[in-house]
Amino acid sequence: MQEKINQYTAEINSFQSKNAEELESFRIRFLGTKGIIKDLFEEFKTVSSEDKRTFGKVLNEFKQLAEAKYQTLKDGSETDDNSSKSEQDLTLPGEGFEIGARHPLSLVRKEIIEIFKKLGFNVAEGPEVEDDWHNFSALNFPEEHPARDMQDTFFIKKGGEKGDIALRTHTSSVQVRMMEAGKPPFRAIMPGRVYRNEAISARAHCFFHQVEGLYIDENVSFADLKQTLFYFVQELFGEGTKVRFRPSYFPFTEPSAEMDISCSICKGDGCQFCKHSGWVEILGCGMVDPNVLENTNIDSKKYTGYAFGMGIERITNLKYQIKDLRLFSENDIRFLKQFQSEMI
Ligand code: DAH
Repeated sequence: MQEKINQYTAEINSFQSKNAEELESFRIRFLGTKGIIKDLFEEFKTVSSEDKRTFGKVLNEFKQLAEAKYQTLKDGSETDDNSSKSEQDLTLPGEGFEIGARHPLSLVRKEIIEIFKKLGFNVAEGPEVEDDWHNFSALNFPEEHPARDMQDTFFIKKGGEKGDIALRTHTSSVQVRMMEAGKPPFRAIMPGRVYRNEAISARAHCFFHQVEGLYIDENVSFADLKQTLFYFVQELFGEGTKVRFRPSYFPFTEPSAEMDISCSICKGDGCQFCKHSGWVEILGCGMVDPNVLENTNIDSKKYTGYAFGMGIERITNLKYQIKDLRLFSENDIRFLKQFQSEMI
């Protein structure tokens, strides 16, 4: 009997209840009407009368120990937040909860998608870990093109069936996947995250987001491209926004252009944002190079198409006058909160 009591004493001393349920099982186990203490008192009846004095004292002390432990834990848990639900004051006001906000980049991506959907564009996505073929070669990048350089690309693995494996540097890789996988006509936009090995600053980041556009069919012309982008800009930045196309170069389009819009902040008068030029560049575009069509087994004599690609961060900066790219990924609640009213 002494041995049992020693064991139980040790158990009681080390017991820590984490919640009301555990404490209740403790009570039932030791102090309940069919509990250990009750049993010990039963057993006590069989103890020889000479031993009754000593054991009686031991047993009473043990009972007090169990009761005291139970009481202390109970008192502690009542002042604790974890007190059992049935003991909560149901008339207290409820806890307020924080309302989240959509991330500004998500808001703008959604807006861009919605505008192109109205024009019959589907939405497609592709992998962020790409091979050289889809990110560069199929897009007509010459072997020695500087964009393949270690400076710009995060390489993951050298060599592979379709060349080195890297984090995609642009969403144009999704064009290739789309053209390989189906038959024209294609009309889709492809939003996604891209990566470049750049030092992080207010104006550059090692990852950002783009939306790629692709339209391939018979008789698609540069005029179609201009009209589509003009409509897009009026929808996104408002009626009256001017556009201009400047000749440019991309390996995967011929001819290629960059498109500027009249600065949506100063309306073309000149401000810090547009470097006092009144114009801001928002995307690159052009007619899909016949080599790209042939690389993906599309008959370049029968089909033509256009493509464009824009940075979501850049457009978001313009829309909300954000001057530092780092704000997008720092999760500063003071920044994110400002978009609460924009929840859609
Ligand atoms: N991929 C280009 C970039 O990351 C953007 C771009 C330019 C995409 C012209 C296009 C395009 O589809 O036609 O800078």
